[in-house]
Amino acid sequence: MKALVLSGGSGTRLRPFSYSMPKQLIPIANKPVLEHVLTAIRDIGVTDVGIVVGNQLRAISGALGDGSALGVRITYIPQAEPLGLAHCVAIARDFLGDDDFVMYLGDNMLPDGVADLAAEFRARRPAAQVVVHKVPDPQEFGVAEVAADGSVLRLVEKPARPRTDLALIGVYFLTPVIHEAVAAISPSARGELEITDALQWLVDRGETVRAGEYAGYWRDTGRVEDVLDCNREVLRALTRSVAADVDEASEITGPVVVEPGARVVRSRIEGPAVIGAGTLVEDSHVGPYTSVGGDCVLRDTRLDDSIVLDGASLCRVRGLYGSVIGRSAAIGTFPPPPAASTPHLPATGRHRLVVGDHTRIEVAA
Ligand code: G1P
Repeated sequence: MKALVLSGGSGTRLRPFSYSMPKQLIPIANKPVLEHVLTAIRDIGVTDVGIVVGNQLRAISGALGDGSALGVRITYIPQAEPLGLAHCVAIARDFLGDDDFVMYLGDNMLPDGVADLAAEFRARRPAAQVVVHKVPDPQEFGVAEVAADGSVLRLVEKPARPRTDLALIGVYFLTPVIHEAVAAISPSARGELEITDALQWLVDRGETVRAGEYAGYWRDTGRVEDVLDCNREVLRALTRSVAADVDEASEITGPVVVEPGARVVRSRIEGPAVIGAGTLVEDSHVGPYTSVGGDCVLRDTRLDDSIVLDGASLCRVRGLYGSVIGRSAAIGTFPPPPAASTPHLPATGRHRLVVGDHTRIEVAA
């Protein structure tokens, strides 16, 4: 079996980050979403992975390389225009050959994994097997009607009046007969070749399409709120590991990962939290539910429930929550007063910041 990961699309809902990076590289617990996706794929024993990319090939291949660090072998498949999920299958035809494959949307997080569903597909080998999940807003998704025995009766893309609450959540197990279906369908009202329509074409032809329900935590990381929520969920499962320089005046509680080369000075890290390699945390209180990337500087700062991307600095920012701080952004009061003259100051309010890469915000202390 091969894997086809879809990583095109512009990610407009994830602005301002999607202006400067593909949404699939936004970090969840300090790992890009795509890395979580590739790990999930490797965990079902699939190592031959095609990634469909749009105009972000350089950023994505820069982050993932040939995949060997993650134990997979990546083939990049360029897509000139985002013409739909079924269009991705069509342009990946040479890569896929006549193999079965799992198609995985590169911005979907299923942290509980799909091992059971993959095993079911391999055992029964229907023409196709979709993964469904109960959602409160099925009109936003492809929706499945499923018989008691798990076979799919009907699939509709974003129906105005959904007949069930079972949404397709971005993982599809497919056999080569899908190529016939993809060749037979026409673009939808939004001008895309929909995988939902290709699957319905198989149902209409009398092929067996099955649905497996994923009951765990699932998020499409398309919006900042979803990214933060997903970060909380993944951090909850952290195993404590502190491989860094932590001074005696600091306190680390709960599930905390401090990556090698980080320094924690006169600070409190409250898990779940992760502090990236090469980051300095000084006179600060970080966490819970906070990810700080690599090579950041946090001085006299208090933040929880937030994500700080690589290379950002926060100086005398107290009371930050629900925030996402872009790469190499600089927020706070500059230049910093010498550490010795800045005793711990109490939080002076609660602030939410969602700021893109390289943003500089200076505020009075
Ligand atoms: C796509 C699919 C839809 C599926 C969704 C899952 O929607 O067309 O059937 O439910 O992904 O995230 P899109 O994100 O392209 O609107």
